[in-house]
Formats: sequence, C-alpha cells, structure tokens
Amino acid sequence: MKIVLSGIKPTGIPTLGNYLGALKNFVKLQNEMKDYDFFIFVADLHALTVPQDPKELKDNIRKLCALYLAVGLNPNNLTLFIQSEVKEHVELGYLMQSIAYMGELERMTQYKDKKQKQVEGVSSALFTYPALMAADILLYDATYVPVGRDQMQHLELTRTLAERFNHRYGDTFTIPQGIEPKQGTKITDLQNPTKKMDKSSENDKGCIYLLEDTNRIRKKIKSAVTDLDGCIRYDKENKPGISNLLTIYAALTNMEIKDIEEKYHDKGYGIFKDDLANIVVNEIEGIQNNYQQWINSPKLDEILDQGRIKATKVAQKKLEIVRKKMGYGR
Ligand code: TYM
Repeated sequence: MKIVLSGIKPTGIPTLGNYLGALKNFVKLQNEMKDYDFFIFVADLHALTVPQDPKELKDNIRKLCALYLAVGLNPNNLTLFIQSEVKEHVELGYLMQSIAYMGELERMTQYKDKKQKQVEGVSSALFTYPALMAADILLYDATYVPVGRDQMQHLELTRTLAERFNHRYGDTFTIPQGIEPKQGTKITDLQNPTKKMDKSSENDKGCIYLLEDTNRIRKKIKSAVTDLDGCIRYDKENKPGISNLLTIYAALTNMEIKDIEEKYHDKGYGIFKDDLANIVVNEIEGIQNNYQQWINSPKLDEILDQGRIKATKVAQKKLEIVRKKMGYGR
C-alpha cells in the first residue's frame, strides 16, 4: 500500500497556519485517498533544535496527539505515532547526514532565519535537521508528503538525498512528492502580514492558536493589520493584511477568493472581519470540543501504542535494508 506521511513539531500549540497549511489538508486527503495508508507523527525530536522546557515539551507532545484526532483524522486508517518512540528515525537521520552536503544544509532558509534568533548559540541539531526530516520520510517510503509552503525546500532536499542515495547504493528509497493545500499554504502573521504565522513567534497578537480562548481569537481577528483604502481585494504585494484574511476565509469556507471579493464589494473591513471571526471561531470551537474528549482518553494511548508498533515494524525493515546496502551488519 502506498503511504502519505507528515508531521508537526510540538513547539507550542499549533496555530491556524498549521491547521490550514497542514492539519486540515491531512483530513481532506485522508477522506479522498482511500487506498493510501496515512502515517502522521509528532516530530518531537525536531523540537529540540531550539531549547525546550522538558515539562512543556511533554505537555505539548500530548496536546498535539489529541489535536490530530480532534481535527478529524480517522483513527481507523491512521498510524499515529511519536517520532522519538521509533528509534530508527535517529539512526537513519545520522546516515542521511552522511549523504547531505554542508552547502545544501547552509542554503536552507529556515536554518538561516532561525539561526539569527538564537541568542544562546545555534545548536548543531538546527543545522542537521533537514537530514532527520529526510529520514522521517524515507524510512516509510512515503509517496506523498502534505506540508505548507515553508517545508517545501526541506522536501526538495529530501528528494535530492534520496536520489543521491539510490545512485550511490542502488535503488532503495521512493522519491517523495510534496502536496500543498489549494488555499492556506502560507498563512501570515495578523500583525505583521508579510511574515509567516509561527507558533514560536514572539508576537502573540499576530498568531491564532487552536487551543486558545475564542474571545481572544475574535479580538485578534478584529485587530488584524489591514490598510487604509477600505477595499476588500486580494493584492498580496500592496494589501498583504487583507489578502491574508481573504486566504483564511477561502480556506475555511472552500469559496473562491473572487467570490468573497464580490460578496463584500460594498462592505467595509469591520463587517468582513466580524464574519471572518465567526467562521474561524466556529471551526476552532468544534476542534476544541473534540479535543476535550481526546486529551485524557485512554483510547488515545491505545492509538499511540498501535501506531508505535506499526511504525517500528515498517521502519525496522527499511533500516535493515539501508544498513546492508551501506555495508553494516556482520
Ligand atoms: P512545523 O511544525 O513547523 O509545521 C507543521 C506544518 O504546518 C505548516 N505550517 C504552515 N502552513 C501554512 N501557514 C503557516 N503559517 C504555517 N506554519 C506552519 C508547515 O508547512 C508544516 O506542514 N519540519 C517540519 C516537521 C516535520 C515533517 C517531517 C513534516 C518533521 N519531519 C516529515 C513532513 C514530513 C516542521 O517543522 O513543521
């Protein structure tokens, strides 16, 4: 069976950006691609690329597991697991470091951005992170990897590494393909709409979190930065704030942007923002209700245990092949 695989880092609570760029698309694809196996995981080892408080990390891992189910992923066709519980990721991650070149890793824009923000020093894990991400994908021979725009560069590198490995050691890995959502592949910060909405952002007002109080969400949308011309029109260059809000609207309602522009052509920003706040809150309330049922449920642990067992089985088999090809084992 072919595999669709993706993961999210448990650094903070997932945002509306993670939802529209990734989570919502996972659910959509799971509904559409009935003959694929879905492997979805918590990328907890990736969280360590920047310093983490151990207690918060533990909490965030559990919360993300519950959120995966709360957004509507169907546990009956899902291998849901926590990356660090499948040790093969670390070993293949190291092996992939031997395939990746320094120059390739240095070119990763996420590394370049994040390294600027590290006051205490840049961990070497932040640098080698894309090799671990390649391992996450290649261990399972994933055919499709749904991600938002910001992860596409890492996915391209994964393809390059897989091709290089196959060339050097013989055909081993499936070359994966990224899938972006039609709308919402890059949701931007509500206060700084040229920057990505990011769960580790310092500006709390610009970011909507899936587990936050819905009144706060309303306030954040109402105070989102727009512009002075008062016209609801998509123009990313000159009207990044309104364009971002239109994208969120479109992604949540499945409407075309031009139809939303038409609907609001004689209305002001106030009405548009009120409507958008209702749409966002309505969606997030549903998720929060489901979340309450999952977070303390023993069923969640059962699903994670089964996920670990199934993922380990697939990963062990693949790693054994890789080890042999590279000359390891007696
Ligand atoms: P992470 O945790 O930064 O983001 C998780 C997913 O959310 C998407 N995303 C966004 N989409 C739209 N707008 C935004 N503002 C926004 N912010 C984040 C990301 O594109 C991503 O799809 N390295 C990955 C996790 C990972 C992974 C993997 C993913 C590790 N191994 C293997 C796929 C396959 C990461 O840090 O995502």
